[in-house]
Amino acid sequence: MQEMTEALTMAWQAAWDRGDVDALDAVLHPEYVRESTGSLRLIDAAQYKQDILEVRTAFPDLTTEIDSLVLGADGTSAAIFWHSSGTFMNELQGVPATGRPVQTRGSNLITLRDGRIVHEKVTWDHAEMLADLGIPSLRSAFETDAVDAIVDVPGAATPFEALKGFNRQFITGVTVVTATDEDGNPRGLAANSYASVSLEPPLVLVCVQKTSSTYPALFRSSHLGINIMSNEQRDVVGVFASKTSDKFARLDWHAGPDGSPLIDGSAASIEAEIKERFQAKTHTVFIAKVTHAEIAEIAPMVYKAGRFFDGAALTEL
Ligand SMILES: Cc1cc2nc3c(=O)[nH]c(=O)nc-3n(C[C@H](O)[C@H](O)[C@H](O)COP(=O)(O)O)c2cc1C
Repeated sequence: MQEMTEALTMAWQAAWDRGDVDALDAVLHPEYVRESTGSLRLIDAAQYKQDILEVRTAFPDLTTEIDSLVLGADGTSAAIFWHSSGTFMNELQGVPATGRPVQTRGSNLITLRDGRIVHEKVTWDHAEMLADLGIPSLRSAFETDAVDAIVDVPGAATPFEALKGFNRQFITGVTVVTATDEDGNPRGLAANSYASVSLEPPLVLVCVQKTSSTYPALFRSSHLGINIMSNEQRDVVGVFASKTSDKFARLDWHAGPDGSPLIDGSAASIEAEIKERFQAKTHTVFIAKVTHAEIAEIAPMVYKAGRFFDGAALTEL
């Protein structure tokens, strides 16, 4: 049994810490199956090795430590308790690297056959850790057959057209969402996907397309700024709805207490600490806790169906 413990520890560390995944061959049974909590898929040894290499690419300095290995009395089962840490240096499953250290821990229940691991049940899945970093999720929402089946709108050619028509009837304001990039430069884009989530705690959300040039800066940032455009900022909206390189060059702005760019002349501005980065395939839903607010005595801009209106000229019903 002592031999088994040593062989397991050596193979585990060779694979996870040094990327020598073939070292696992010494301890994995040819019929090896790996099961993870939180994931429906069962994987074999080849996929397991691939997963390790993928994680190691994302966390090149990954170190894992076995805290304890407890063998069952009958000699056919064991539990491994472990923890890992590493720096998130390269993209993992569409999640941009943050350069931040990440720690995670878990336990594996293994079943042995002929002295090798034939089944492994992992109470951890890298999906769980990625949830903290912003993993692609909401998978079922992107099964196109399911979407087509439930959306049947008379008169609309496609669900896309139906939703577009629906959105055109929804009146919003316009915001400019901002962050500071790695070089300390202000970045931002026009967004009408702002919504207030709750007052206590003070949470807000905004949805940003991943192809936006502002996105990497936003994703990495600890804070963001949200500026509600006033009826005097039609030009500003034009700039932030474009791909202009330095959108802040010709406007006045100041940094919030945590550094987020706040645009002067906005109807209101907030700075908020990013708490969640939910992945919705093409977009990321940022949920942030408001830490600072500035409200001006100036009317907001109104946006409906691709057109902009004066928020001071509304007629009350
Ligand atoms: C009124 C309006 C609302 C918009 N809302 C959003 C939004 O909520 N999320 C988003 O990702 N883009 C939104 N856009 C599009 C971006 O502003 C646009 O793609 C911009 O060019 C992105 O700039 P960037 O790539 O430099 O970040 C909106 C544009 C306008 C005009």
